[in-house]
Amino acid sequence: MATVNDSRLLQQPSQKDAADQNFDYMFKLLIIGNSSVGKTSFLFRYADDSFTPAFVSTVGIDFKVKTVFRNNKRIKLQIWDTAGQERYRTITTAYYRGAMGFLLMYDITNQDSFSAVQDWATQIKTYSWDNAQVILVGNKCDLEDDRLIPTEDSQRLADELGFQFFETSAKDNINVKQVFERLVDVICEKMNETVEGDGGPLTSLKDSNFQDSSMEGHSSCAC
Ligand code: GTP
Ligand code: MG
Repeated sequence: MATVNDSRLLQQPSQKDAADQNFDYMFKLLIIGNSSVGKTSFLFRYADDSFTPAFVSTVGIDFKVKTVFRNNKRIKLQIWDTAGQERYRTITTAYYRGAMGFLLMYDITNQDSFSAVQDWATQIKTYSWDNAQVILVGNKCDLEDDRLIPTEDSQRLADELGFQFFETSAKDNINVKQVFERLVDVICEKMNETVEGDGGPLTSLKDSNFQDSSMEGHSSCAC
């Protein structure tokens, strides 16, 4: 996955990806957080099982598609990797709409990235669907000697915000798969609750960009 040129900033999934209808559900997920916390590295680790120490800051937004199996269901994940730099904020927040899940990432060795978590949570509240599920991710846990953010502080913040919480390392492949699996599971749980309950989130989904492919013909996730 290369970073995109300015002319392609508002891209959509390619024809080939969009045409792949071999799945039961499709979930749109976004990775957000300050620049350099490791969002792109995290996605590369998950999708390609690769890692590079070089830092190439993402321009705008990019995505990867990965299909997972949960309880005999084929779930296609469209995972959007956003630029953390402030100057791309208008572009990246345009993609929040219709997202079912967010990975809100900070770097356990970077105080600013942790201090910004509250602001990122506000952005989610402002621009996304009300029932979007969020996991707080403290990345770079391989750098224990440089740690500035105690695990307990992050857990407390996650509890306050109502988010799940994991510490991870894209470098050493710690908790990467687990984070995505947990996010898929909480989305499935939420969808099932909705079908049994008030119908709110699914009503919202009808207005979102899930409608074109993910929700067509499906009323609930039986994961
Ligand atoms: P933007 O695209 O600017 O928003 O940054 P980003 O959040 O995508 O960060 P990126 O993945 O490009 O990583 C930034 C730097 O951190 C790179 O040099 C990575 O190699 C490094 N990095 C990412 N994840 C880890 C990790 O788990 N451990 C360590 N030690 N370094 C990491
Ligand atoms: Mg990036």
